[in-house]
Amino acid sequence: MEQQKRYGHFDDAHREYVITDPKTPWPWINYLGNEDFFSLISNTAGGYSFYKDAKFRRITRYRYNNVPMDNGGRYFYIKEGDTAWSPGWKPCKTPLDFYECRHGMGYTRITGRKNQVEASVLFFVPLKTWAEVQKLTLTNQSQEVKTLKLFSFEEWCLWNAATDMENFQRNFSTGEVEIEGSTIYHKTEYRERRNHYAFYHVNTEIQGFDTDRESFVGLYNEFSNPDAVVEGLPRNSHAHGWSPIASHYIEVTLQTGESRDFVFLLGYVENEQDKKFSAPKVINKEKAHALIARFDTTEKVDKAFAELNAYWDALLNIYKVKTGNPKLDRMVNIWNQYQCMVTFNFSRSASFFESGIGRGMGFRDSNQDLVGFVHQIPSRARQRIIDIASTQFPDGGCYHQYQPLTKRGNNDIGGGFNDDPCWLIFGTVAYIKETGDFTILDEMVPFDNQPGSEVTLFEHLKVSLDHVINNLGPHLLPLIGRADWNDCLNLNCFSWDPNESFQTTENVSEGTKAESLMIAGLFVVTGKEYVALCNKIAKHEEGQRMQRAVDAMIEAVKKHGWDGEWYLRAYDFYGRKIGSNECEEGKIFIESQGWCTMAEIGADEGMVAKSLDSCKKYLECEHGMVLNNPAFTKYIYEYGEISSYPEGYKENAGIFCHNNPWVIIGECMAGRGNDAWSHYAKILPSYVEEKYQTLHKVEPYVNCQMVAGKDAFRPGEGKNSWLTGTAAWMWYTVSEFILGIKPDYDGIRIDPCLPETAGDYTVSRKFRDAEYDITIRPNGSQKGVKQIVLDGSPVEGDVIPYAAGKHTVEVTM
Ligand code: BGC
Ligand code: NOJ
Repeated sequence: MEQQKRYGHFDDAHREYVITDPKTPWPWINYLGNEDFFSLISNTAGGYSFYKDAKFRRITRYRYNNVPMDNGGRYFYIKEGDTAWSPGWKPCKTPLDFYECRHGMGYTRITGRKNQVEASVLFFVPLKTWAEVQKLTLTNQSQEVKTLKLFSFEEWCLWNAATDMENFQRNFSTGEVEIEGSTIYHKTEYRERRNHYAFYHVNTEIQGFDTDRESFVGLYNEFSNPDAVVEGLPRNSHAHGWSPIASHYIEVTLQTGESRDFVFLLGYVENEQDKKFSAPKVINKEKAHALIARFDTTEKVDKAFAELNAYWDALLNIYKVKTGNPKLDRMVNIWNQYQCMVTFNFSRSASFFESGIGRGMGFRDSNQDLVGFVHQIPSRARQRIIDIASTQFPDGGCYHQYQPLTKRGNNDIGGGFNDDPCWLIFGTVAYIKETGDFTILDEMVPFDNQPGSEVTLFEHLKVSLDHVINNLGPHLLPLIGRADWNDCLNLNCFSWDPNESFQTTENVSEGTKAESLMIAGLFVVTGKEYVALCNKIAKHEEGQRMQRAVDAMIEAVKKHGWDGEWYLRAYDFYGRKIGSNECEEGKIFIESQGWCTMAEIGADEGMVAKSLDSCKKYLECEHGMVLNNPAFTKYIYEYGEISSYPEGYKENAGIFCHNNPWVIIGECMAGRGNDAWSHYAKILPSYVEEKYQTLHKVEPYVNCQMVAGKDAFRPGEGKNSWLTGTAAWMWYTVSEFILGIKPDYDGIRIDPCLPETAGDYTVSRKFRDAEYDITIRPNGSQKGVKQIVLDGSPVEGDVIPYAAGKHTVEVTM
């Protein structure tokens, strides 16, 4: 491997990734905000903000897939003499004397220096605040007095991010603003049905402003050279229609060594219907004033920033490992957990690969995401479970997605993905094990959000599994429906029409024989969990009923789902095998290997070990395990989207990082620690970071959904970073199966599975009202706990029984 250029490095002490060259191979982004107000921010300050919903409540505008890349953001222009520059390099792109971007936990700090002036901007969304703070510090590091002109810039989105990009016959006439002192208000559509507005403020007097894009930029200029900046003069423009923006103009004189802070605030406000206006046509600004007052000094901003850091201290203190391997520790203690929070918040909606317009919250996605997050803030996971379950149908089927703003099922995509229901059990069980809160099962939850349809959450779990049982195919395996986890295995789609979406088209399903081994494995895993839950809450009969269904499924898999060396993937519409040695291409698939080994189906008959070996033999490559092998080289009408992708990409034999952990867990269950670890390390970002800064392209501090597989043109190239179920699965895998700290109903189960080279390590784990300091001594063993000593006394079995307070645990393997 040739020596590659480096664009950055980890700074673990500050929990930051430090980018030292703005021209990263792809924008490397971060997320700001925790609950309602969110921002995406790239290493050059590109990106946008929204309130709750990236589609319906978009605050600032962004241009996707643009030339140049990453256009639109919160931009500062600093003008000294004839030179204009930006601290984040873009948009001016004037070469800087120094550049650095530090992405941290919920904040980003971008610093640029030019001609001995330093501009450092700290961007963050304070806790419980509907605003993004941008604290700009200008420092004169020279021996002379500096006279600078400072322009800020934000471009408003006309709220609905979809129509904003297409309905110009209307849009170009609706834009409205108000200007009051140093605050620019965006109030498009406020006169009619909206009761929300946004504002952009700076805590100092301004010498001018602009609110109309064309006046500021000039029709044929670009963000890199706006008219106003080139001439060094604001236009004081007042937008009427077209594209409203917000730009402050500030004249700054700095003495030698002098430093000055400017606090910019991008805020969002909602007013009650009867308090919308303070005078005819004038918006009621009371709440904006109050919000501004909370952040109008450096001290207040610094305090809010300290609170954000303390919040992350507390979150990341819940699970902390010390292994002596910094690459592992930084992912477990910092970045993996951080990414889990982000995927919990965003599902698959808004990233630099997801426009924020297309997708809401996924039913299966959100259930998986919350498993990576539940230890951080269980109460939010609880609410999420209820929200998700509320979009289920009475027969157990569910809407595939819902919109976060309305929490309603999304009719554009509908339902029919037959794996979806099982995930509700996966999520709920994880919540109860973490918290011990069984009351969630008694929560009354509607179907399809219909008032009057409420049943207990437990009943939702029951109908979920019943949905599988009631939809079995000719081999008594689960019917796949529109697709299972693999959204691209569209076995009832049959499309020759390029205008049809693979995701929503089901041209033929009447009489289908299309069955899924992935759902079969998922059903066995979640079915067993359900049985254990039933026994726990003394619903023994129901538990026995489900155990019979699970046993029947296991038999069906053994009988009809085994290909000799691995598990089949599916049966197609006609009942022909998919993922079999008999197939020309796509002989083996990862999903069924993962789920059927996790379910330990046929372990005694040697199926599990053979399947895992086959993964190593046929799926593994330098960068991880591919989804299927060999890749499909042509479109197969009866398979759908999977065969639409060129070889090695996405669902057609890409390394779908999401499902590598399934096999890794399978390895752990089988006690094969060396293999589990070697698979894990291949997709662990901190390992990739070292080797592939340019090849990999995407952020080296988080997992991406897909890395191009061995059949691809450029194996190892990553795409779709950030918003992927990989985050939660990597967390679940390393925290519970590799390091072996598993929350359970009655306590914490200790069951590590490690490479034989692993040394002693400690985990400190907060769990309900307890705190455990656990030391594990593997002694060269890959699996198998010999002895657990809790506070000095040996424990029977492998579960540390829960008891509030501080405890010391010594584990010998
Ligand atoms: C992608 C899938 C995705 C689906 C739904 C497909 O084009 O390949 O990964 O889940 O779209 O958005
Ligand atoms: C991404 C989707 O978000 C997820 O739901 C799906 O399972 C995978 N792609 C695989 O197709």
